[in-house]
Amino acid sequence: MPNLYRLIRPLLFCLDAERAHNLGFWTGALAQRLPLPDPELAPTLTADAFGLRFPSPLGLAAGLDKGAELLPFWKSLGFGHVEIGTITPRPQPGNPRPRLFRLPSEGMILNRMGFNSEGAEVVAGRLKGRPSGLIVGGNLGKNKATPEENALDDYAVAYRLIAPQVDYIALNVSSPNTPGLRKLQAPAALKPLLSGMLELRKEMGLEAQPLLLKLAPDLAFEELDAIVEVAVSSGISGLIATNTTLDRSIVSLENHQKVEAWGPGGLSGKGLAAKARAVRLRLLQALKGRLPLVACGGLGSGEDVAQALADGAALAQIYTALIFEGPGLVRRIHQELLHLRSRSQP
Ligand SMILES: Cc1cc2nc3c(=O)[nH]c(=O)nc-3n(C[C@H](O)[C@H](O)[C@H](O)COP(=O)(O)O)c2cc1C
Repeated sequence: MPNLYRLIRPLLFCLDAERAHNLGFWTGALAQRLPLPDPELAPTLTADAFGLRFPSPLGLAAGLDKGAELLPFWKSLGFGHVEIGTITPRPQPGNPRPRLFRLPSEGMILNRMGFNSEGAEVVAGRLKGRPSGLIVGGNLGKNKATPEENALDDYAVAYRLIAPQVDYIALNVSSPNTPGLRKLQAPAALKPLLSGMLELRKEMGLEAQPLLLKLAPDLAFEELDAIVEVAVSSGISGLIATNTTLDRSIVSLENHQKVEAWGPGGLSGKGLAAKARAVRLRLLQALKGRLPLVACGGLGSGEDVAQALADGAALAQIYTALIFEGPGLVRRIHQELLHLRSRSQP
């Protein structure tokens, strides 16, 4: 599989990024029509977090499979969990194209997809046929047309449809591509949002289902500290850090102009790693073990994942590295993790 991807990658990378994405997706859909072998995951990879047992600490971050279309394929690659979405309550097309750009020399992607979503009803219907043995999280967002002050209504509509079909829910308040969305991270907006969602969770009898919050990397440390206190006192189950960044300084000088010409959007991949880690370390310090944290942002190797776990994260997620490295990356990360662990054992 990795060699095949190396072979077709130059071809894929000749195409416009979204076309290549669609072609890759189509290949995955084709692959999952065949009888796929179950991945052989070492039992020592098992990870426990927020009351769930994951076959591996490594998951697929939100945004790649927004509509839960390729779950058997992701499972066959060996992911311990897949976060589907972002799902908006009502269908919406997202931003006009082009809205996805690759920077292969730096292992980075810029996107302003803007929550292209089939809507919660369609995705909920598809989830009824989800494969067993894979943990699925539902990442929820609000429709672009919904004003921030009515955001709770949108998250609630999506939650009612999606929550009964998944293992955990992540509230996305950190995409930079939906105007105003990140303002929901401010304590004054976050408190009512979280308490409203927890009330709904109770009303639906889903108290045992983890509710997570996904954060941006572009927050000051004081803001992170304040968010942690709101999150802990609200009673949610954990945090995911981080989403993409608006910080263009992570792009090397020689590529600045090129990236600027692409226009607005969030950056992900290698260059995000240090920034995302700094945010996570601050969150972990403020959390003091009170809630688990899922690491995301610039991770791309077994060493990266091992470091995130050693820092104190309960799980790790990848997206951009998978685009550049191909599906064999999941297996390689697992092998590296096991190798690193065997070396560190006395
Ligand atoms: C093309 C693209 C689309 C994304 N869409 C979403 C999304 O819909 N919801 C979300 O929470 N995060 C989304 N993300 C962010 C990723 O889930 C992840 O947080 C971010 O890319 C950092 O991880 P990475 O460096 O491993 O890619 C998207 C990322 C990319 C590259």
